Amino acid sequence: EKNILPVIVCVSSPIACIPHWTLKSVVCLLLGNSGHLFREEGVWNYSTMLLREDLGLLILGAREAVFALDLSNITHKKAMVKWQVTQDMQDKCSHKGKDLEIECQNYIRVLHKMADGRMYVCGTNAFSPSCDYMSYTDGRLTLENIHEDGKGKCPFDPFQRYASALVDGVLYSATSINFLGSEPVVMRSSTESIRTDFKTSWLNEPNFVGMEHVAEGQQSPEGDDDKIYLFFSETAVEYDSYSKVEVSRVARVCKNDMGGQRTLQRKWTSFVKTRLDCPVPDTSLPFLIQDVFRFCSGNWTSCVFYAVFTPQAHTSQYSAVCAYEIADIRQVFSMGKFKTPVPVETSFVKWVMYSGEVPFPRPGACINNEARDKGFSRTLDLPDRTLQFIRDRPLMDQAVQPISDVALLVRRGPAFTRIVVASATALDGSSHQVMFIGTASGSVLKVVNYDGDTVIIEEVQLFKLSEPVKILRLSNSQLYAGSEVAAAQMPLSSCGHYSSCLDCVLARDPYCGWNLTANHCTAISSIDPDGHSDVIQSLRDGDATRCPSVGIVKAVNITFHPGSTIKLLCEPGSNLARMQWHVDQRPVISSDTFQILRDGLLIINASTEASGLYTCSSVESSNSRDYVSQNAVYELRLGASQSGETSLLLPQVQKQQHTMVVLQVMVVLLSIMLVALVMWNIYKGHFGFFPQCFSQGQGAQGAQEPLQVSCENTSREGNTSNNNHNRRAEFHSAQGKDSKIQQNTDQIL
Ligand SMILES: *[C@@H]1O[C@H](CO)[C@@H](O)[C@H](O)[C@H]1NC(C)=O
Ligand SMILES: *[C@@H]1O[C@H](CO)[C@@H](O)[C@H](O)[C@H]1NC(C)=O
Ligand SMILES: *[C@@H]1O[C@H](CO)[C@@H](O)[C@H](O)[C@H]1NC(C)=O
Ligand SMILES: *[C@@H]1O[C@H](CO)[C@@H](O)[C@H](O)[C@H]1NC(C)=O
Repeated sequence: EKNILPVIVCVSSPIACIPHWTLKSVVCLLLGNSGHLFREEGVWNYSTMLLREDLGLLILGAREAVFALDLSNITHKKAMVKWQVTQDMQDKCSHKGKDLEIECQNYIRVLHKMADGRMYVCGTNAFSPSCDYMSYTDGRLTLENIHEDGKGKCPFDPFQRYASALVDGVLYSATSINFLGSEPVVMRSSTESIRTDFKTSWLNEPNFVGMEHVAEGQQSPEGDDDKIYLFFSETAVEYDSYSKVEVSRVARVCKNDMGGQRTLQRKWTSFVKTRLDCPVPDTSLPFLIQDVFRFCSGNWTSCVFYAVFTPQAHTSQYSAVCAYEIADIRQVFSMGKFKTPVPVETSFVKWVMYSGEVPFPRPGACINNEARDKGFSRTLDLPDRTLQFIRDRPLMDQAVQPISDVALLVRRGPAFTRIVVASATALDGSSHQVMFIGTASGSVLKVVNYDGDTVIIEEVQLFKLSEPVKILRLSNSQLYAGSEVAAAQMPLSSCGHYSSCLDCVLARDPYCGWNLTANHCTAISSIDPDGHSDVIQSLRDGDATRCPSVGIVKAVNITFHPGSTIKLLCEPGSNLARMQWHVDQRPVISSDTFQILRDGLLIINASTEASGLYTCSSVESSNSRDYVSQNAVYELRLGASQSGETSLLLPQVQKQQHTMVVLQVMVVLLSIMLVALVMWNIYKGHFGFFPQCFSQGQGAQGAQEPLQVSCENTSREGNTSNNNHNRRAEFHSAQGKDSKIQQNTDQIL
């Protein structure tokens, strides 16, 4: 069964907001083949991941433990190592007023691969951050117990956001450096560590979300340096507002920055930042960045940053995705104007555009050939004028706008939490960026933008509704997600769940195509730029005209009695489809007798004229063309009184007399409610089976448990309706095994 979720409302076109499929039961099918789940009894907070494709491992950091999981089946735990806080540390932490059970624990936060194959790992360590080296040898994960000071590398507070990157063996980090979490820092931890100045003009109550290295120095004709880009939100200084306004920011530093000689000693000379805009219609306050993913298809000039945004102060229920070109960010930093503070009243400063003279070398720029030619070969050589300028004016005047100046996607509903982007090669050889967006309600959306037309291909519910997606990671063919309670793995595509050619082609999934020879929706394995193959795919147009016409659906015979009420079931093919009913080839028009429902046709108080051949078609429009598929056919015949078949369906309805119309309608309504309840249980029943859909992992204790929880929690009804589950089974067997039509025509009332 395809369960229908409430339709999602959009802000405005061209934003597609209704997922082609809302995968409630398809999740099951999808993960049934190749999805996996991991969870260890008594361990929580699976929110740090490192992909070690060289070792075939997913390194998963949790609370007080690190796991090495099989990359192809994360249920398979290969090794684990515990990193627990000592009793002494825990006591100290709780004496300082922190929660013993929650805050005074060691949350693994930083995991990076080092050049020698070892890993660098840091944890909050009961509000006393600490770092260590870890290796995986002979199937064992070992910590070296070096316990380096983790201040400035890893947050003290496990609830605080942070960001870090390991570049050429050196750690760059953005977090708070003190116990109170009030001193934010962006730093490089080498022997000569470099950091930001403690000034609100540099960092003002920031919330760090991501850090990315971009190798701009490679073969740079200008002799430029590599950059480390930082994404965060912070309290704005540039708004004239009485209340606190937050803004999203992108900042960057140069890799070879060594700080200044007298001014900005051991501080960044290249820290510049600017506002990052993600315009959403009808919102007053800027949206705030929550996560960022660097997508590069060639050298660094091709890099695009994809980011998810949510409203501040719960001003709306929308989330958005915006993408930024590296060239646009670079342009603002290397060519744009600066902002400068101007005192307005005694204690108030206003930030305005700086229109005075800018010293040479340009403040905030990396050392390049031009600077070297003038004798500035290191940042230590930079003149005080340049350094003082950037120390006081790290903020650029112009904001960075997203590609095409619009959000790629705006959607109402659970907040977007994380994003990763994969590249898919379509049948015609074109490549497409496929976004996987994690949500606060434990699902992942799969989204593609075709020339400005954004399509939500599917939504997969990985965790319980109350379990936000806390991390997403990508390998070549798999997506890994973590929540506080479990980690999950799913394939980037599972074409097999599209059962018809129309479903397969209209889904517009770049990974899938309809193989005419095999009569199956299959993964695209080879490229066919000329369109001569036996596979159909139509991504931009959603054109399914090449799909073969579907065979005739066998009619289900129904005998009815005058005055009875009949419901003919017929489910639409997808959320975007609408239903059309015909009786003896004439369209059925809604009337007192006929009610066209979302999932079927209700014939109330059927008269002798109600007999005939009923057909139900699902119509889906794509690219201003209608695709019609016949989903169900019923042959209604007038029967003799009290014949078995109908009384079996719902005897109460039959006993009503023609005259008792009012009563009848009430009974009908009650019956509909009953059916709704039964349907709900079918749905719930499926979720009951949900754990079986995963590859059973006897190895990992409790692997099945969170799913069970997940299933139950998806239903908001509690446990009241378990008995009905059995009734439904009887119902089906009573109907008999009516071939494959069963799928489409589920019940007759
Ligand atoms: C860790 O997970 C538990 C259980 O879901 C949750 O209550 C807690 O808030 C999480 N801790 C952090 C720091 O996210
Ligand atoms: C995945 O790993 C688990 C635990 O080792 C094992 O029981 C299960 O059979 C594996 N599944 C597949 C599909 O290999
Ligand atoms: C990057 O690639 C583009 C297109 O392939 C090319 O034009 C450009 O010169 C390359 N830039 C660098 C720095 O290699
Ligand atoms: C389509 O299916 C047939 C039969 O299974 C197979 O031989 C053929 O390779 C498939 N075509 C493509 C392009 O995958």
